[in-house]
Amino acid sequence: MIDYSKNVLGLQLPSDPRWVNIAEKNIEDILVDHAYCEQKAASSCISLIIMFPEKDKLVDMLTPVVAEEWNHFERVLEELRKRGMKLGAIRRDEYVIELMRNERKGGARERQLMDKLLINALIEARSCERFKLLWKHIADPELQKFYYELMVSEAGHYKNFLQLAKEYMPEDVVEERWQELLKIEADIIHSLEVRPDRMH
Ligand SMILES: [Fe+2]
Ligand SMILES: [Fe+2]
Repeated sequence: MIDYSKNVLGLQLPSDPRWVNIAEKNIEDILVDHAYCEQKAASSCISLIIMFPEKDKLVDMLTPVVAEEWNHFERVLEELRKRGMKLGAIRRDEYVIELMRNERKGGARERQLMDKLLINALIEARSCERFKLLWKHIADPELQKFYYELMVSEAGHYKNFLQLAKEYMPEDVVEERWQELLKIEADIIHSLEVRPDRMH
């Protein structure tokens, strides 16, 4: 059982607590950005399946995650509709762009896969942390319940990605790269500061 009271999933820099108050005032922007986070999560799992079809465990583990992420997209869309809001266009996702710049393209296929899996795990961890903030501090009781459920679900995905990384690369190699990427992620969050219209 994951203890959500602690620093979430090893992340080194907690989100600025002001973010949740600002986010609450921009809930349409947050929901739209969130919808596309779910779309990107589904798309990313589909890409991994297409790129690594020979990896049975990866294909079996990520196929249901695609459905879960798409269900999250659908649920965010429902929350928008209930409030008379529109989906709107996709926004440039600096957080993910910056993280992906740290993905190593060359080298062994397994090492490339490890980087992709760990970056996915980081995005899940940070999303989980943001959902925890929303769950704990947002006033709307419906959204509180919604974000709690998503926090639990994304924590499960985080575990899936880390487990898969360790399936295809030695544990100490994964651990070393994970620590490097945690530092990089903290620097990115620090450099982006508080963004009122973004999930990350
Ligand atoms: Fe999701
Ligand atoms: Fe997820």
